[in-house]
Amino acid sequence: MLALRSTLPRYVRACYSRPPLTGQVNKLGVKIPSTFNQSSSTAIKVAIQYPCRHYTTDKERCGTSKQVAVVGAGAVGSTIALLTMMKNVASEILLVDQNGEFALGQTWDLADANIVNSTKVRQGTYKEAGQSEVVVITAGAKQQPGESRQQLIDRNYHILKEIIGGMQPIRKDAVIMLVTNPVDTLTLIAQNLSGLPRSQVFGSGTFLDTSRLTVYLSDLFDISASCIHAYVLGEHGDSQFIAWNAASIGGRPLLSFPEVQKLDKEKVRLSIANKAMDIIQHKGSTYYGIGACASSICESVLRNSMDIRPLSVYVKEVGTVISLPAKVGANGIEATLPIPLGPEEHRQFMESVKKLREIGERYENLNGIEKS
Ligand SMILES: NC(=O)c1ccc[n+]([C@@H]2O[C@H](COP(=O)([O-])OP(=O)(O)OC[C@H]3O[C@@H](n4cnc5c(N)ncnc54)[C@H](O)[C@@H]3O)[C@@H](O)[C@H]2O)c1
Repeated sequence: MLALRSTLPRYVRACYSRPPLTGQVNKLGVKIPSTFNQSSSTAIKVAIQYPCRHYTTDKERCGTSKQVAVVGAGAVGSTIALLTMMKNVASEILLVDQNGEFALGQTWDLADANIVNSTKVRQGTYKEAGQSEVVVITAGAKQQPGESRQQLIDRNYHILKEIIGGMQPIRKDAVIMLVTNPVDTLTLIAQNLSGLPRSQVFGSGTFLDTSRLTVYLSDLFDISASCIHAYVLGEHGDSQFIAWNAASIGGRPLLSFPEVQKLDKEKVRLSIANKAMDIIQHKGSTYYGIGACASSICESVLRNSMDIRPLSVYVKEVGTVISLPAKVGANGIEATLPIPLGPEEHRQFMESVKKLREIGERYENLNGIEKS
């Protein structure tokens, strides 16, 4: 039985680890079968049929009784809220925005989606956000046509400072995800201001750029994007690069495909790095792609699913926050994975490091931010 249990998916295993008393009626009024402990196949079936919401888990952190706060109820924040609601991984979403009227309207509109999901949504305060299990920060100015992400830092640093200050005291096990740009630098600042372990404060990083790359390769090969293992790493910005050396499809190195050998790789890199600006020039801002990426990270945390995602994490060896593949679970960043880079990719990575370190240090010194 134990051996079989270890082959179950993590989520099911977590649910199954503390079964309810058999024969009892759960919160939904469903009687738990008395066969629960008797046969492994029934146990698996029951664990799937009666998921965590009704039982506790080994870490007491499995999804559906949890609160997610989304700070910044604009285009990005509301998209993340809606897509997270649709996943049924949280019991409640709090929307926090300096524009109270706007946030209230957004919560009413989002609540209208409740016929097809069970996540409640309401307006909240910074203080309440500080007590949520997961906090997603999207508040702040966005890029205007022709403006780089780094140019947003002055405006968004002050907003971030106000938000983190207002959230104090932050619960010790909170996981905070930064989305506001420039995401790498603001993640570094949030790590220092929040007082939480760095592993609990990270940014959405190059996950969106990676999604753009896999969609591009998916079109090239006519293969589902979810089956393409390739990462954009480094800065979520101009100096980002594609880790071609470590990329694969179906276990075969991507660089061994003639279609990829023929590619102008710098052209591909630039088209991915500039895609946000292309969208902004057409419709003013981007929010669906980041909404999908950020809500899936909320899911990884709330389900403790240990997905590997390229995120803005603190990398001690280089002394800055930068995107590398990271394992995401209930505690935030559970580990950062080493990735084999080619010589040119390593040079590009160090270029991103240099840029981000310079900006981070300049900004921290300028504002007297103490390093944690
Ligand atoms: N990391 C990524 O991949 C990615 C992708 C897209 C957008 N973004 C960034 O997300 C941010 C938000 O973009 P958007 O399109 O939603 O902008 P938006 O203008 O639609 O929304 C921003 C919201 O922040 C609110 N806000 C401002 N100051 C606040 C404060 N002190 N407290 C609470 N709320 C405050 C505003 O009232 C507004 O509702 C921008 O910085 C943008 O660059 C990041």
